[in-house]
Amino acid sequence: MWAGRVLHAALSAAPRGRRAQSALTQLRGVLEEELEAIRGAGTWKSERVLTSRQGPRIHVDGVSGGILNFCANNYLGLSSHPEVIQAGLQALEEFGAGLSSTRFICGTQTIHKDLEAKIARFHQREDAILYPSCFDANAGLFEALLTPQDAVLSDELNHASIIDGIRLCKAHKYRYRHLDMTDLEAKLQEAQKHRLRLVATDGAFSMDGDIAPLREICHLASRYGALVFVDECHATGFLGATGRGTDELLGVMDQVTVINSTLGKALGGASGGYTTGPGPLVSLLRQRSRPYLFSNSLPPAVAGCASKALDLLTESNAIIQTMAAKTQRSPSASLGLRLSPLVHPADLGTDLGSHARQEWV
Ligand SMILES: Cc1ncc(COP(=O)(O)O)c(C=O)c1O
Repeated sequence: MWAGRVLHAALSAAPRGRRAQSALTQLRGVLEEELEAIRGAGTWKSERVLTSRQGPRIHVDGVSGGILNFCANNYLGLSSHPEVIQAGLQALEEFGAGLSSTRFICGTQTIHKDLEAKIARFHQREDAILYPSCFDANAGLFEALLTPQDAVLSDELNHASIIDGIRLCKAHKYRYRHLDMTDLEAKLQEAQKHRLRLVATDGAFSMDGDIAPLREICHLASRYGALVFVDECHATGFLGATGRGTDELLGVMDQVTVINSTLGKALGGASGGYTTGPGPLVSLLRQRSRPYLFSNSLPPAVAGCASKALDLLTESNAIIQTMAAKTQRSPSASLGLRLSPLVHPADLGTDLGSHARQEWV
């Protein structure tokens, strides 16, 4: 009470406007220092502004003529596919702009339920749950699933969203060296004391395009009684004979327990993410997963685009099959770049961002 009065007296000595002003001045100083440090470290990210739709050929503000685009994760070119756009327009017309609600309050439409069923069928899993993004799916999975009795074992180069999701959970955390199965085995042995063990990995790693050795991971998981989680953002829709992903490519579809992936890359490229896996896990996520519970439903137009993208992939294998061939025809040789057979077919294992500015058309 006494301390409260002293604090109140000190605060009221300075006029409120001046106090707010000096706090803002202090904030500006702190922010400028931080921004300067980013520039100094050479990690400043500037954004190119497109004046066209996403695609292999784009127009960019300030650049005359079209340029070839190697930077987007528009792996199958569906972001601007006429049927995908038409499906988005139809969903917008039929279901409106958005739900103004979370799923469990008043935000679930048939288009959401149909898309979840379609995703589960596509991955041959029991059920699926939609999120506003895969970042959210990763942020919402581990905390809902794992408790302090459990353990999670994570590849050190996993995507930032997996790392953040794991940070939020209270399970014991083990980080194994990138793709290092000897290290993973050692960590699995250490983790035997915990109730559940979950190995978490990207299917295809986003920076270098290297692919997780899922066969070996699943083999170790089975030996040490662990579950396997794979982030398939850079695989869904095009890796494997029918585009199911890394698990199909490596023949372990029946051994990977949980898959998280995005609708924001190969599957139409708008936004949205999902978890697919065992029915009771999906049910638990609907009850406990915070990004699902406390954020708005996926906009119907976005759901419509993704749904059409999945239809295109399941109706015919043509789009998927031509992908590898097109990759081989890329101008990598003339850019002095090399395609490695060990990496992702659409990732040249190097930074093509700056090359993308070269004018090709
Ligand atoms: C491996 C991986 N996981 C998750 C995400 C997040 O996906 P989204 O854009 O749907 O949030 C990304 C996006 O870059 C990614 O590359």
